[in-house]
Amino acid sequence: MLILGFESSCDETGVALVDASGSAVPRLLGHALHSQIEMHQAYGGVVPELASRDHIRRVLPLTDAVLAQAGLPLSAVDAIAYTRGPGLAGALLVGSGVACAMAMALGKPVLGVHHLEGHLLSPFLSTDPPEFPFVALLVSGGHTQLMRVDGVGHYELLGETIDDAAGEAFDKSAKLLGLGYPGGPALSQRAEQGSATAYKFPRPLLHSGDLDFSFAGLKTAVLTQVKRLAHARPEGPATPQLAEALNAAQIADVAASVQAAIVEVLVKKSLAAIESTGLNRLVVAGGVGANALLREQLNAACEKRRVRVHYPELHLCTDNGAMIALAAGLRFQAGLLPTGAAGAGYHFDVRPRWPLSELTSATTPAA
Ligand code: KG4
Ligand code: ZN
Repeated sequence: MLILGFESSCDETGVALVDASGSAVPRLLGHALHSQIEMHQAYGGVVPELASRDHIRRVLPLTDAVLAQAGLPLSAVDAIAYTRGPGLAGALLVGSGVACAMAMALGKPVLGVHHLEGHLLSPFLSTDPPEFPFVALLVSGGHTQLMRVDGVGHYELLGETIDDAAGEAFDKSAKLLGLGYPGGPALSQRAEQGSATAYKFPRPLLHSGDLDFSFAGLKTAVLTQVKRLAHARPEGPATPQLAEALNAAQIADVAASVQAAIVEVLVKKSLAAIESTGLNRLVVAGGVGANALLREQLNAACEKRRVRVHYPELHLCTDNGAMIALAAGLRFQAGLLPTGAAGAGYHFDVRPRWPLSELTSATTPAA
Protein backbone atom coordinates (compact mmCIF):
# COMPACT_ATOMS: atom_id res chain seq x y z
CA MET A 1 0.00 0.00 0.00
CA LEU A 2 1.95 3.01 -1.26
CA ILE A 3 0.58 6.42 -0.30
CA LEU A 4 1.73 9.70 -1.82
CA GLY A 5 1.08 12.70 0.46
CA PHE A 6 0.97 16.44 -0.20
CA GLU A 7 1.29 19.25 2.35
CA SER A 8 0.56 22.83 1.24
CA SER A 9 -1.34 24.44 4.13
CA CYS A 10 1.02 27.36 4.74
CA ASP A 11 4.55 28.22 3.66
CA GLU A 12 6.05 24.79 3.06
CA THR A 13 5.44 22.55 0.06
CA GLY A 14 5.95 18.96 1.17
CA VAL A 15 5.61 15.71 -0.77
CA ALA A 16 6.29 12.22 0.55
CA LEU A 17 5.76 8.56 -0.21
CA VAL A 18 5.12 5.98 2.53
CA ASP A 19 4.64 2.24 2.45
CA ALA A 20 1.73 1.30 4.73
CA SER A 21 1.63 -2.40 3.84
CA GLY A 22 0.92 -4.87 6.62
CA SER A 23 0.62 -3.68 10.18
CA ALA A 24 4.13 -2.33 10.78
CA VAL A 25 4.46 1.44 11.26
CA PRO A 26 4.36 2.99 7.75
CA ARG A 27 7.83 3.37 6.27
CA LEU A 28 9.01 6.57 4.63
CA LEU A 29 10.27 5.77 1.11
CA GLY A 30 11.02 9.33 0.07
CA HIS A 31 10.24 12.90 0.96
CA ALA A 32 10.99 16.36 -0.38
CA LEU A 33 10.31 19.81 0.98
CA HIS A 34 10.53 23.37 -0.21
CA SER A 35 10.36 26.10 2.40
CA GLN A 36 9.11 29.53 1.28
CA ILE A 37 10.59 31.26 4.33
CA GLU A 38 13.12 33.24 2.29
CA MET A 39 10.41 34.52 -0.07
CA HIS A 40 8.14 35.73 2.76
CA GLN A 41 10.96 37.16 4.88
CA ALA A 42 10.90 40.47 3.00
CA TYR A 43 7.29 40.98 4.15
CA GLY A 44 7.77 39.95 7.80
CA GLY A 45 5.22 37.15 7.50
CA VAL A 46 3.43 34.80 5.12
CA VAL A 47 1.76 36.48 2.12
CA PRO A 48 -1.04 34.05 1.24
CA GLU A 49 -1.22 34.80 -2.49
CA LEU A 50 2.54 34.39 -2.91
CA ALA A 51 2.36 31.15 -0.91
CA SER A 52 -0.29 29.66 -3.23
CA ARG A 53 1.61 30.59 -6.38
CA ASP A 54 4.83 29.12 -5.07
CA HIS A 55 3.13 25.85 -4.10
CA ILE A 56 1.98 25.56 -7.73
CA ARG A 57 5.57 26.02 -8.94
CA ARG A 58 7.08 23.50 -6.53
CA VAL A 59 4.63 20.66 -6.16
CA LEU A 60 5.28 18.64 -9.34
CA PRO A 61 9.11 18.89 -9.33
CA LEU A 62 9.04 17.80 -5.66
CA THR A 63 6.80 14.86 -6.60
CA ASP A 64 9.28 13.81 -9.30
CA ALA A 65 12.10 14.04 -6.75
CA VAL A 66 10.22 11.84 -4.24
CA LEU A 67 9.42 9.17 -6.85
CA ALA A 68 13.06 9.24 -8.01
CA GLN A 69 14.25 8.79 -4.40
CA ALA A 70 11.95 5.81 -3.99
CA GLY A 71 12.86 4.45 -7.44
CA LEU A 72 9.18 4.02 -8.28
CA PRO A 73 6.88 5.27 -11.04
CA LEU A 74 3.74 7.31 -10.23
CA SER A 75 1.66 4.33 -11.41
CA ALA A 76 2.90 2.34 -8.38
CA VAL A 77 1.04 4.66 -6.01
CA ASP A 78 -2.07 3.09 -4.43
CA ALA A 79 -3.65 6.15 -2.79
CA ILE A 80 -3.12 9.90 -2.59
CA ALA A 81 -3.36 12.04 0.53
CA TYR A 82 -3.37 15.81 0.92
CA THR A 83 -3.73 18.36 3.70
CA ARG A 84 -7.42 19.29 3.67
CA GLY A 85 -7.07 21.85 6.48
CA PRO A 86 -6.70 23.85 8.59
CA GLY A 87 -4.59 26.44 6.79
CA LEU A 88 -4.63 29.12 4.11
CA ALA A 89 -7.51 28.45 1.71
CA GLY A 90 -5.59 29.23 -1.49
CA ALA A 91 -2.54 27.27 -0.40
CA LEU A 92 -4.65 24.26 0.61
CA LEU A 93 -6.41 24.34 -2.77
CA VAL A 94 -3.11 23.72 -4.57
CA GLY A 95 -2.42 20.46 -2.72
CA SER A 96 -6.05 19.44 -2.93
CA GLY A 97 -6.25 20.19 -6.66
CA VAL A 98 -3.07 18.31 -7.50
CA ALA A 99 -3.98 15.34 -5.29
CA CYS A 100 -7.50 15.00 -6.67
CA ALA A 101 -6.36 15.38 -10.30
CA MET A 102 -3.58 12.84 -9.83
CA ALA A 103 -5.86 10.36 -8.07
CA MET A 104 -8.47 10.72 -10.79
CA ALA A 105 -5.88 10.19 -13.53
CA LEU A 106 -4.60 7.09 -11.75
CA GLY A 107 -8.06 5.83 -10.80
CA LYS A 108 -6.98 5.64 -7.15
CA PRO A 109 -8.60 6.82 -3.90
CA VAL A 110 -7.80 10.23 -2.42
CA LEU A 111 -7.93 11.23 1.25
CA GLY A 112 -8.02 14.70 2.83
CA VAL A 113 -5.88 14.67 5.98
CA HIS A 114 -6.15 16.98 8.99
CA HIS A 115 -2.88 18.93 9.31
CA LEU A 116 -2.81 18.61 13.10
CA GLU A 117 -3.41 14.87 12.92
CA GLY A 118 -0.28 14.79 10.75
CA HIS A 119 1.73 16.66 13.41
CA LEU A 120 0.22 14.53 16.18
CA LEU A 121 1.22 11.25 14.55
CA SER A 122 4.59 12.43 13.17
CA PRO A 123 6.63 10.85 16.05
CA PHE A 124 5.63 7.46 14.57
CA LEU A 125 8.25 8.11 11.89
CA SER A 126 11.00 8.44 14.50
CA THR A 127 13.33 5.66 15.62
CA ASP A 128 11.49 5.63 18.97
CA PRO A 129 7.79 5.60 18.03
CA PRO A 130 5.21 6.00 20.83
CA GLU A 131 2.49 3.56 21.83
CA PHE A 132 -1.15 4.49 22.44
CA PRO A 133 -2.57 5.95 24.62
CA PHE A 134 -0.65 9.19 25.15
CA VAL A 135 -1.03 12.87 25.92
CA ALA A 136 -0.05 15.07 22.99
CA LEU A 137 1.20 18.63 23.24
CA LEU A 138 0.60 20.22 19.85
CA VAL A 139 2.54 23.43 19.55
CA SER A 140 2.69 25.10 16.15
CA GLY A 141 2.48 28.56 14.65
CA GLY A 142 -1.31 28.47 14.66
CA HIS A 143 -2.24 25.98 17.39
CA THR A 144 -1.52 25.14 21.00
CA GLN A 145 -3.47 22.18 22.28
CA LEU A 146 -3.26 19.32 24.73
CA MET A 147 -4.97 16.18 23.49
CA ARG A 148 -5.61 12.73 24.85
CA VAL A 149 -4.87 10.25 22.06
CA ASP A 150 -6.20 6.72 22.48
CA GLY A 151 -5.55 5.59 18.93
CA VAL A 152 -5.64 6.77 15.33
CA GLY A 153 -8.80 8.86 15.01
CA HIS A 154 -9.47 8.88 18.77
CA TYR A 155 -8.64 12.40 19.90
CA GLU A 156 -10.00 14.18 22.95
CA LEU A 157 -9.23 17.86 23.41
CA LEU A 158 -8.04 18.50 26.98
CA GLY A 159 -7.18 22.18 26.65
CA GLU A 160 -6.09 24.80 24.16
CA THR A 161 -5.07 28.41 23.80
CA ILE A 162 -7.82 30.96 24.21
CA ASP A 163 -5.92 33.49 22.07
CA ASP A 164 -2.43 33.30 20.50
CA ALA A 165 -0.57 30.06 19.82
CA ALA A 166 2.82 29.35 21.41
CA GLY A 167 4.53 29.67 18.02
CA GLU A 168 2.77 32.98 17.51
CA ALA A 169 4.13 34.18 20.88
CA PHE A 170 7.64 33.27 19.70
CA ASP A 171 7.07 34.91 16.31
CA LYS A 172 5.50 38.13 17.62
CA SER A 173 8.14 38.58 20.33
CA ALA A 174 10.87 37.96 17.77
CA LYS A 175 9.34 40.57 15.47
CA LEU A 176 9.36 43.14 18.30
CA LEU A 177 13.04 42.32 18.81
CA GLY A 178 13.80 42.82 15.10
CA LEU A 179 14.64 39.13 14.60
CA GLY A 180 12.57 38.64 11.42
CA TYR A 181 10.23 35.83 10.45
CA PRO A 182 9.67 33.09 11.50
CA GLY A 183 10.91 34.15 14.87
CA GLY A 184 11.01 30.92 16.89
CA PRO A 185 14.40 29.56 15.81
CA ALA A 186 16.02 33.05 15.76
CA LEU A 187 14.65 33.97 19.18
CA SER A 188 15.81 30.73 20.80
CA GLN A 189 19.26 31.21 19.26
CA ARG A 190 19.56 34.74 20.73
CA ALA A 191 18.25 33.46 24.06
CA GLU A 192 21.37 31.31 24.45
CA GLN A 193 23.41 34.46 25.13
CA GLY A 194 20.86 36.00 27.50
CA SER A 195 19.58 35.60 31.04
CA ALA A 196 16.19 33.94 31.51
CA THR A 197 15.68 35.85 34.76
CA ALA A 198 16.56 39.31 33.41
CA TYR A 199 12.89 40.27 33.01
CA LYS A 200 9.85 38.85 34.70
CA PHE A 201 7.26 38.19 32.01
CA PRO A 202 3.77 36.90 32.86
CA ARG A 203 2.96 33.18 32.87
CA PRO A 204 -0.73 33.49 31.90
CA LEU A 205 -3.20 30.89 33.19
CA LEU A 206 -0.36 29.00 34.90
CA HIS A 207 -2.52 28.41 37.97
CA SER A 208 -5.92 28.46 36.25
CA GLY A 209 -6.61 24.87 37.27
CA ASP A 210 -7.53 23.87 33.73
CA LEU A 211 -5.43 22.92 30.71
CA ASP A 212 -6.01 26.07 28.67
CA PHE A 213 -3.32 28.52 27.56
CA SER A 214 -3.16 32.25 26.85
CA PHE A 215 -0.21 33.97 25.19
CA ALA A 216 -1.64 37.27 23.94
CA GLY A 217 -0.70 39.19 27.09
CA LEU A 218 2.91 38.12 26.75
CA LYS A 219 3.29 40.10 23.54
CA THR A 220 2.07 43.25 25.28
CA ALA A 221 4.49 42.68 28.16
CA VAL A 222 7.39 42.24 25.72
CA LEU A 223 6.37 45.39 23.84
CA THR A 224 6.24 47.37 27.09
CA GLN A 225 9.70 46.11 28.06
CA VAL A 226 11.19 46.84 24.63
CA LYS A 227 9.79 50.40 24.76
CA ARG A 228 11.27 50.89 28.20
CA LEU A 229 14.71 49.72 27.04
CA ALA A 230 14.47 51.89 23.91
CA HIS A 231 13.46 54.93 26.02
CA ALA A 232 10.34 55.24 23.88
CA ARG A 233 6.99 56.63 24.99
CA PRO A 234 4.85 53.89 26.61
CA GLU A 235 1.82 54.90 24.54
CA GLY A 236 3.81 55.08 21.27
CA PRO A 237 3.42 52.57 18.39
CA ALA A 238 5.35 49.32 17.93
CA THR A 239 7.80 50.21 15.17
CA PRO A 240 10.91 48.46 13.80
CA GLN A 241 12.93 51.42 15.16
CA LEU A 242 12.27 50.24 18.73
CA ALA A 243 14.41 47.12 18.31
CA GLU A 244 17.16 49.13 16.62
CA ALA A 245 17.62 51.08 19.86
CA LEU A 246 18.42 47.88 21.79
CA ASN A 247 21.91 46.43 22.12
CA ALA A 248 22.68 42.74 21.58
CA ALA A 249 22.78 41.97 25.32
CA GLN A 250 19.34 43.51 25.88
CA ILE A 251 17.88 41.58 22.94
CA ALA A 252 19.38 38.35 24.27
CA ASP A 253 17.98 38.99 27.77
CA VAL A 254 14.46 39.73 26.51
CA ALA A 255 14.63 36.67 24.21
CA ALA A 256 15.77 34.39 27.06
CA SER A 257 13.14 35.76 29.44
CA VAL A 258 10.24 35.42 27.02
CA GLN A 259 11.33 31.93 25.97
CA ALA A 260 11.49 30.91 29.65
CA ALA A 261 7.93 32.19 30.19
CA ILE A 262 6.50 30.30 27.19
CA VAL A 263 8.39 27.10 28.01
CA GLU A 264 7.42 27.15 31.69
CA VAL A 265 3.73 27.36 30.83
CA LEU A 266 3.98 24.58 28.22
CA VAL A 267 5.86 22.27 30.60
CA LYS A 268 3.57 22.88 33.62
CA LYS A 269 0.38 22.37 31.61
CA SER A 270 1.75 19.22 29.96
CA LEU A 271 2.54 17.79 33.38
CA ALA A 272 -0.94 18.72 34.61
CA ALA A 273 -2.43 16.88 31.61
CA ILE A 274 -0.30 13.82 32.42
CA GLU A 275 -1.51 13.96 35.98
CA SER A 276 -5.19 14.44 35.19
CA THR A 277 -5.29 11.63 32.61
CA GLY A 278 -3.08 9.25 34.58
CA LEU A 279 -1.19 8.43 31.37
CA ASN A 280 2.57 7.98 31.31
CA ARG A 281 3.45 8.97 27.75
CA LEU A 282 3.78 12.40 26.22
CA VAL A 283 4.13 13.21 22.54
CA VAL A 284 5.30 16.68 21.54
CA ALA A 285 4.60 17.81 17.99
CA GLY A 286 4.51 20.94 15.85
CA GLY A 287 7.15 23.53 15.03
CA VAL A 288 7.71 24.72 18.61
CA GLY A 289 8.52 21.09 19.48
CA ALA A 290 11.92 21.80 17.89
CA ASN A 291 12.73 24.23 20.70
CA ALA A 292 15.78 23.01 22.62
CA LEU A 293 14.81 24.53 25.99
CA LEU A 294 11.33 23.00 25.80
CA ARG A 295 12.83 19.58 25.06
CA GLU A 296 15.38 19.92 27.86
CA GLN A 297 12.82 20.94 30.48
CA LEU A 298 10.19 18.42 29.41
CA ASN A 299 12.77 15.62 29.40
CA ALA A 300 13.96 16.53 32.89
CA ALA A 301 10.46 16.90 34.35
CA CYS A 302 9.18 13.71 32.73
CA GLU A 303 12.20 11.64 33.72
CA LYS A 304 11.50 12.53 37.33
CA ARG A 305 7.92 11.28 36.96
CA ARG A 306 8.81 8.19 34.89
CA VAL A 307 6.91 9.57 31.93
CA ARG A 308 8.22 8.75 28.43
CA VAL A 309 8.46 11.69 26.02
CA HIS A 310 8.43 11.22 22.26
CA TYR A 311 9.31 13.81 19.63
CA PRO A 312 9.25 13.73 15.86
CA GLU A 313 12.66 13.73 14.17
CA LEU A 314 13.87 17.33 14.32
CA HIS A 315 13.41 17.88 10.56
CA LEU A 316 9.82 16.59 10.78
CA CYS A 317 8.78 18.99 13.58
CA THR A 318 7.80 21.76 11.20
CA ASP A 319 5.43 21.27 8.27
CA ASN A 320 6.23 18.45 5.85
CA GLY A 321 4.61 15.95 3.49
CA ALA A 322 5.83 12.89 5.39
CA MET A 323 3.42 13.45 8.29
CA ILE A 324 0.48 13.74 5.85
CA ALA A 325 1.33 10.52 3.99
CA LEU A 326 1.97 8.85 7.37
CA ALA A 327 -1.39 9.94 8.84
CA ALA A 328 -3.15 8.57 5.76
CA GLY A 329 -1.16 5.32 6.09
CA LEU A 330 -2.06 4.91 9.76
CA ARG A 331 -5.71 5.64 8.94
CA PHE A 332 -5.63 3.01 6.22
CA GLN A 333 -4.12 0.46 8.61
CA ALA A 334 -6.76 1.32 11.22
CA GLY A 335 -9.47 0.63 8.64
CA LEU A 336 -10.43 4.29 8.47
CA LEU A 337 -9.37 4.90 4.88
CA PRO A 338 -11.83 3.32 2.47
CA THR A 339 -10.16 1.86 -0.58
CA GLY A 340 -11.76 1.25 -3.93
CA ALA A 341 -13.62 4.55 -3.77
CA ALA A 342 -12.00 5.72 -7.00
CA GLY A 343 -14.18 7.57 -9.44
CA ALA A 344 -16.57 8.87 -6.81
CA GLY A 345 -16.15 12.56 -7.57
CA TYR A 346 -12.64 13.81 -6.90
CA HIS A 347 -13.99 17.29 -6.19
CA PHE A 348 -11.54 19.68 -4.50
CA ASP A 349 -12.31 19.92 -0.85
CA VAL A 350 -10.52 22.08 1.72
CA ARG A 351 -11.34 23.15 5.29
CA PRO A 352 -9.34 26.31 6.15
CA ARG A 353 -10.90 26.16 9.63
CA TRP A 354 -11.28 22.61 10.86
CA PRO A 355 -11.30 21.71 14.58
CA LEU A 356 -9.44 18.46 15.24
CA SER A 357 -12.29 17.49 17.56
CA GLU A 358 -14.47 17.00 14.47
CA LEU A 359 -12.28 14.05 13.50
CA THR A 360 -14.13 11.16 15.01
CA SER A 361 -13.19 7.58 14.48
CA ALA A 362 -15.97 7.47 11.92
CA THR A 363 -14.73 6.71 8.43
CA THR A 364 -13.49 9.79 6.63
CA PRO A 365 -15.12 9.68 3.24
CA ALA A 366 -12.76 9.47 0.29
CA ALA A 367 -13.60 11.47 -2.78
O1 KG4 B 1 4.22 23.39 12.75
P1 KG4 B 1 4.75 24.56 12.07
O2 KG4 B 1 5.86 24.36 11.06
O3 KG4 B 1 3.66 25.33 11.27
C1 KG4 B 1 2.34 25.43 11.65
O4 KG4 B 1 1.57 24.48 11.42
O5 KG4 B 1 2.04 26.50 12.25
O6 KG4 B 1 5.22 25.60 13.21
C2 KG4 B 1 5.80 26.80 12.91
C3 KG4 B 1 6.06 27.53 14.21
C4 KG4 B 1 6.52 28.97 14.04
O7 KG4 B 1 5.79 29.78 14.91
C5 KG4 B 1 8.00 28.92 14.43
O8 KG4 B 1 8.48 30.14 14.95
C6 KG4 B 1 7.98 27.85 15.48
O9 KG4 B 1 7.10 26.87 14.97
N1 KG4 B 1 9.31 27.25 15.71
C7 KG4 B 1 10.01 27.38 16.86
C8 KG4 B 1 11.25 26.72 16.67
N2 KG4 B 1 11.26 26.20 15.41
C9 KG4 B 1 10.06 26.54 14.84
N3 KG4 B 1 9.69 28.00 18.01
C10 KG4 B 1 10.60 27.95 19.00
N4 KG4 B 1 11.80 27.36 18.90
C11 KG4 B 1 12.18 26.73 17.76
N5 KG4 B 1 13.37 26.14 17.68
ZN1 ZN C 1 2.01 22.73 11.03
